[in-house]
Amino acid sequence: MIKTIAILEGDGIGPEIVREAVKVLHAIESKYSHQFNLKYAPFGAQAYFTEGSPFPEKTRDICDEADTIIKGPVGLAIEKMNAIPQQFRPEIGAILPLRKRYDTFANFRPVRLPKPLASFSPLRDEVIGEGIDILMIRELVGGIYFGNKTEGISTGMNYAMDECTYTEEQIRRVAVVAFEEARSKKALLTNIHKANILATSRFWEEVVEDVARAYPDVPYRSMLVDNAAFQLVKNPSQFNGVVLLENMQGDILTDQAGGILGSLGLMPSACMGPVKSYVEAAHGSAPDIAGKNIANPYSMIGSLAFLFEKCLHLPQESNEIWNALFSVFARGYTTTELASAGSDTKKVLSTSDFGDLVVDIIRNG
Ligand code: IPM
Ligand code: MN
Repeated sequence: MIKTIAILEGDGIGPEIVREAVKVLHAIESKYSHQFNLKYAPFGAQAYFTEGSPFPEKTRDICDEADTIIKGPVGLAIEKMNAIPQQFRPEIGAILPLRKRYDTFANFRPVRLPKPLASFSPLRDEVIGEGIDILMIRELVGGIYFGNKTEGISTGMNYAMDECTYTEEQIRRVAVVAFEEARSKKALLTNIHKANILATSRFWEEVVEDVARAYPDVPYRSMLVDNAAFQLVKNPSQFNGVVLLENMQGDILTDQAGGILGSLGLMPSACMGPVKSYVEAAHGSAPDIAGKNIANPYSMIGSLAFLFEKCLHLPQESNEIWNALFSVFARGYTTTELASAGSDTKKVLSTSDFGDLVVDIIRNG
């Protein structure tokens, strides 16, 4: 297969974790005789300072022409971020426009805690049980994130307002993606919302339940988001299967799920659109540890596994990466943020050693 891939390294630890994902990409490329043409482009807070925009025109062109996109985390230390006008901050000026441009409406975030990773979780063994394997699917281009935002004065009082809107089509298409995933996994689908309060959530539940009628074979349940936050910590494996959420609630619960894993460094993410998709690590750019070669590249490499499965439709290559990632931990290795007090320092991998080991496992088993 010949494909062009745009590489947006981002800020902070972005370049170093993306570098490891690219190593793994090359290992798969040679093992399976693919050809990947990589096109690097500036994106994020640093791009604002060097190019005048966090999502410059030339980066748009490179992304438009690429088959798919690998994106690192964005954002610099707080003092530098404060020097950037609001509309040019990378969240509003780069990430949201990227999502909008490619209409990446379905965001996949897997919460996988198989045996070799179980000790990283802050939850007790008996709470984790047989292991956690949840695929969170978050709507990514609608809701309050993309509604009108206004600030002003009304009857002498300052106020701010964020509008939240969902159309039937926006809900239906992500629900169909979630039910298809649940059907192929023969797994439960949990639909999460706040239908006891929000009009958008009541509508969300109504439309999702209409979609559910076309999937009578998929076990389905509906749950309020506050209860889901509670249940997720109390008994996470009850969610094994697919969890469907709207944008804002999905943002919060996917981070909570990262807490259950023990680190957001263990959470990859894929943002799927009708024609183009991108993958990213679900965590931030951790400027405090940037350049130290200690960041965990798991999320970024796991995102690459997603890229093979979902964007390039190469499941074998994808499985190969997942298996290599899990066997790093099965061999007793760890990373700085996951290491517990007293763990064997020889087993704590640097960013680059982690990537090298994944490559070695792919090449030599
Ligand atoms: C995420 C991030 C983004 C979001 C930010 C950086 C815009 O938190 O991908 O979860 O809120 O969606
Ligand atoms: Mn988030």
